Amino acid sequence: MVRRFVKEGGTCIDATAGRGYDTAFLCSLVGDGGKVLAFDIQQEALDSTARLLKERGLKATLLHASHADLAQYVQPESVDCVMFNLGYLPKGDHSVYTRFESTAKGIESGLYALKKGGLISVCVYYGGDSGYEERDALIPYLRSLDDSKYQVLMTTFLNWKKDPPFPVFIIKL
Ligand SMILES: C[S@@+](CC[C@H](N)C(=O)[O-])C[C@H]1O[C@@H](n2cnc3c(N)ncnc32)[C@H](O)[C@@H]1O
Repeated sequence: MVRRFVKEGGTCIDATAGRGYDTAFLCSLVGDGGKVLAFDIQQEALDSTARLLKERGLKATLLHASHADLAQYVQPESVDCVMFNLGYLPKGDHSVYTRFESTAKGIESGLYALKKGGLISVCVYYGGDSGYEERDALIPYLRSLDDSKYQVLMTTFLNWKKDPPFPVFIIKL
């Protein structure tokens, strides 16, 4: 889905850098002429991301900041895609994870930053020891987005066991 919305030379935001795999993916899509900003509130995540980018010869601007403050770093209607992968840092501290309040502010800011025709993808992870409250608050919030401005799609892995994540796509009309 993200590949369809991001072209070479584009601008993307990874709102939850984590171990850097999504940042690296976005960098590979925009190429040398593009721009990727990656946010995380944990230095460990940014260090991991920096290492992965170096290994792969890629470049992004890494920001030790909450995605709730994303609007401070970008111009309105300048971004092609914003990715959120919710939850905690894989193989990291399970007590630090995304929370509804900052995620909703991040999505609001992402919508402001997004070009018309751009995409926000949110992969909602829950299960084990966290994520249920965020999931339960996010669904009504996403449902409330103005349907004359945004198309919101929620998808499900119907046959996955346990608590499968669900991807949500918001397209700015
Ligand atoms: C599931 S991980 C992201 C995985 C990552 N995209 C990857 O490719 O490895 C979620 C990350 O969100 C970060 N996070 C939690 N709250 C945040 C916030 N308010 N702003 C930015 N990052 C946040 C966590 O520190 C964690 O590293």
